[in-house]
Amino acid sequence: MKLFVINGPNLNFLGIREPGHYGTTTYADLCHMIETHCKEKGIQVTCLQSNHEGDLVDYIQRAYYEGVDGIVINPGAYTHTSIALLDAVKSVSLPTVEVHISKVEEREAFRQVSYIRAACQATITGHGVAGYLEAIDFLAEHHHEKGGTQ
Ligand code: DQA
Repeated sequence: MKLFVINGPNLNFLGIREPGHYGTTTYADLCHMIETHCKEKGIQVTCLQSNHEGDLVDYIQRAYYEGVDGIVINPGAYTHTSIALLDAVKSVSLPTVEVHISKVEEREAFRQVSYIRAACQATITGHGVAGYLEAIDFLAEHHHEKGGTQ
């Protein structure tokens, strides 16, 4: 099984930015944690991050071209603004899980809209960086249910 984990703007600043909301794990730590988890489960994973909306669209399209089985995505602030990311996930029709480190539903009104959610199989919020591992496990379970072997 092959997965992409895609992070949007400012998530490269994890560990530096607003630790009250996002914790103290750095982006490098997060990638390491994801890679270790996936190795244990026999999943091939690629972690990608960009501060630019178009790059995120390109990563989603790349997942299609590379025959990836699922996408975990934290679009950061583009969650609340980007129809392009919604359309990209719809375009590739790959199982996708939306992750937010913070509990967005308890934050500002402008964070209550998620465009990408409509194209996602599940949303995980407020579980800190552990949410990424839960999203990976969700995609792995569904892949096996569908008869996927690796
Ligand atoms: C976030 C929540 C978004 O509202 C915010 O813009 C982020 C991070 C989260 O992981 O909790 O950049 O997606």
